[in-house]
Amino acid sequence: MQDFNGKIAVITGAGTGIGRALARQLVQQGCHVAICDVIESNLNKTIELCHADNPKEVLVSGSVCDVADETQVIKFRQDVQKNHSTEHINLLINNAGINGGGSFINSPRQEWERTFNICWSGVYLVTRTFLPLLMNSSTGHLVNMSSANALRAVLGAQLPHTAYSTAKFAVKGFSEALIHDFRFNAPHLSVSVVMPGHTGTDILSNSLQILGHNQPQNWTIEEVNEARVRWAIAGRDDTQAMSDAQIRAAGEQEIDNMRTMGLPAAQAANTILNGVKNNTWRILIGADTQSLDELVRASPETAYDPDFVGRWREASAARNS
Ligand SMILES: NC(=O)c1ccc[n+]([C@@H]2O[C@H](COP(=O)([O-])OP(=O)(O)OC[C@H]3O[C@@H](n4cnc5c(N)ncnc54)[C@H](O)[C@@H]3O)[C@@H](O)[C@H]2O)c1
Repeated sequence: MQDFNGKIAVITGAGTGIGRALARQLVQQGCHVAICDVIESNLNKTIELCHADNPKEVLVSGSVCDVADETQVIKFRQDVQKNHSTEHINLLINNAGINGGGSFINSPRQEWERTFNICWSGVYLVTRTFLPLLMNSSTGHLVNMSSANALRAVLGAQLPHTAYSTAKFAVKGFSEALIHDFRFNAPHLSVSVVMPGHTGTDILSNSLQILGHNQPQNWTIEEVNEARVRWAIAGRDDTQAMSDAQIRAAGEQEIDNMRTMGLPAAQAANTILNGVKNNTWRILIGADTQSLDELVRASPETAYDPDFVGRWREASAARNS
């Protein structure tokens, strides 16, 4: 797909972050977009931003939809068909995702499965539901959002991230398996898997909301203690001495760091859209992911060794300098 002008794109989880940036950039490039999100206020904000900067006056539509619920996904497809008067789409971007279900031992089963069902089943259900519309296009592209966690199944240095990592490995495997399936059975379609490293978004606060947790300023004593345990595992040795109020403030700081540090979402979106134009099947985003990929490939057996993270940080810093 050399350009997006006049094409129709469907994007899940476009209420904030990378999905919102993708929607805005596609609109600016003359692409009609149909977006969904499970948080209605954020969805409406993205629609407003797309309308505010719409040089080619393309059609922008939005649906409230939980990608892990097949009935809602089918309704989303019907909305797209009706709002865009179409039986085809050109671009399907499975972007919706949340963090959660860190420990298979300690995290509540409901949270583990909710995370897995959004990050994996959401990709599966949306692809299956929209495939007929993608098949009807003269040229179509599927983009699946995986993660650096599909290269090394740990968050940061040493924090277990089991539900999310399991799902993101599944997304990567599914996307790679589709390469040959498309090549032989649907040669007008292409697929890309995206593996971002740290990108500055609201994923932490959105995930708390979607999982039914409080935001840090309102954490209960139980949630404060969970954060203490989580950060101790992550290697912070100061949390036992901190008051509950300080833990809540540190939780707010963590959300703020996630949003303000890392690669800007607009830069990640730009890399993804260039990857689609160049028909790159494997899109790595950020120096952290590039160096992680190289190190894990060079020596997979050492990926979970205690000294791995030091080597990874050095390699990322060298790449950035
Ligand atoms: N930010 C990062 O550092 C990072 C790193 C690797 C991978 N990713 C992946 O990138 C994608 C986008 O994440 P982001 O960082 O922009 O976060 P984000 O929270 O800003 O965007 C994700 C969006 O998905 C929506 N969403 C969540 N569950 C949903 C559901 N069940 N149905 C519909 N929408 C739902 C959220 O409301 C949110 O708007 C995710 O798949 C994430 O796992 C992000």
